[in-house]
Amino acid sequence: MAKREIITIPDPLLREVSAPVERVDDDVRRLMDDMLEAMYEAPGIGLAAVQVAVPRRIVVVDTAREEEERNPLFLVNPEIVSLSDEMRPHEEGCLSIPEFYAEVERPAACTVQFLDRDGKPREMDCTDILSTVIQHEVDHLNGVLFIDYLSRLKRDRVIKKFVKAKKAEAPA
Ligand code: NI
Repeated sequence: MAKREIITIPDPLLREVSAPVERVDDDVRRLMDDMLEAMYEAPGIGLAAVQVAVPRRIVVVDTAREEEERNPLFLVNPEIVSLSDEMRPHEEGCLSIPEFYAEVERPAACTVQFLDRDGKPREMDCTDILSTVIQHEVDHLNGVLFIDYLSRLKRDRVIKKFVKAKKAEAPA
């Protein structure tokens, strides 16, 4: 398995719209395995392919708690087809915005259609944290980050911090 680095803001790739996958083949499955490994290592509960610098519509998710058995989900070309009116607040983080957390309100339930690991069309009803994660990851495929839901002041402050940090580590 190839080790994949997770990119962070302000990498402009994170703002790109990812391209649909035409066929779920072994290359796609290998990429998903790499993504899963990078996600577990980070550790995180969701990862979009664009976060490992591959702007294609692929997401891996595992919301199992540490003491629970692993339960990976693989979603290709995920599309949210319905959202609840009821909202749910959650303190979100993102592997591409390390060590920053903020509360975001999203629909408490959603239904997502996608192709699974074998390329089979599937539909899944999501609630609680899974609803939050799925919406967060599908946002990534459209170049949207959870900080976009914060006030401009808060968002700009976070971005500035990362720009500064990157400048500091770049060779003169
Ligand atoms: Ni994220």
